[in-house]
Amino acid sequence: MSTDSTDWRRHLRPSLAALEVYDVPPSTAPSRLHANECPEPWPQEVRDALAEVVRGLELGRYPDTSGRTLRRVLGERHGCDSGRVVLGNGSDEIIGMLLTAVSGGPETSRLVIPCPTFVMYAHSARVLGLEVDEVPLRPDFELDEAAMRAALGRDGGAAICFLARPNNPTASLWDQAMIEGLIADFPGTVFVIDEAYAAYDPGCSLWRPDRPSNYVHMATLSKVGLAALRVGYCVADPELALALNKVRHPYNVSQTSIALAELALTRFADAQDAMVAKTTANRRRLVEILRRLPDAELFPDHGNLVLVRFPSDARARGLRAALAQAGILVKDLTRVPMLSGCLRISVGTDEDLERLAAALDAIASEA
Ligand SMILES: Cc1ncc(COP(=O)(O)O)c(C=O)c1O
Repeated sequence: MSTDSTDWRRHLRPSLAALEVYDVPPSTAPSRLHANECPEPWPQEVRDALAEVVRGLELGRYPDTSGRTLRRVLGERHGCDSGRVVLGNGSDEIIGMLLTAVSGGPETSRLVIPCPTFVMYAHSARVLGLEVDEVPLRPDFELDEAAMRAALGRDGGAAICFLARPNNPTASLWDQAMIEGLIADFPGTVFVIDEAYAAYDPGCSLWRPDRPSNYVHMATLSKVGLAALRVGYCVADPELALALNKVRHPYNVSQTSIALAELALTRFADAQDAMVAKTTANRRRLVEILRRLPDAELFPDHGNLVLVRFPSDARARGLRAALAQAGILVKDLTRVPMLSGCLRISVGTDEDLERLAAALDAIASEA
């Protein structure tokens, strides 16, 4: 880092030097199975109704500072006061708010996360200069309870811990009782249970309104058909929600997003449920297609994603490249710790899956 007083670069946060920009180039590939979105399109009548909402927007006016109407809908869904609901510009923003709010303890604040998991937990913590304790998952991608307990308890106790359930990118659904035990035994740590993909495993949500005050429920509309809106949220203890609202920029979610999300979640909830149900059913089809590959190792699948391992990084990367040639994007995880030889494939529509099956057959016949 520069020490020259005429060089503005000396003011850059030292932690940024080692970080990379999270960037995914836009793509128009016909089958985009690399971003864990909901692939099913909204019905035309829903799109027409949403267009009507956009037409009526007062573009010259600020949105509501905190999205009260949408928070009310989410509060009702979660059986709690809407004051406990905090909206973010995607749950990525909620992650940043939580880390900012819960990093003011007497010692350097420490984040504990299993590894591998969603990359933005560690990235956002490192931007802020927090210490990140990454606890490797067991080889079967389950939580390592003893190692998690050791990490959570070390050096006066961790400030915060994120647990994605189901997890991205391993698609695992970690043991409920173990997680509840950790939350009960470490009341001095804030636990964020990230249920971004929970809609694809009906009944799996751990959320209940009477959870202890160190429990935060986090979710997003991105994975259930509304990724373009950038709306994520959390339900937190009222005192923590107040702290988050001090960190949150006013007007952080656009009126377009607030209004479209509200309409989709209320008037068109049935259409959304049908899209999620179709994708959940197609996860089985995706697994069946991948099972036909003799060298593919599959792991228990949850959410709208499937993790598949091949015998070598070269084989996995070659397959990813060949699928891209056929218009199908999948995620290469071969450089992620513990995931050598692995690809992550998001569930697609019927058409995506037919394209995938045909491409895999063609690749096999050329080999
Ligand atoms: C587990 C998990 N949590 C949160 C997010 C962030 O979602 P968004 O910022 O789109 O709400 C993702 C995105 O892939 C994710 O996989």
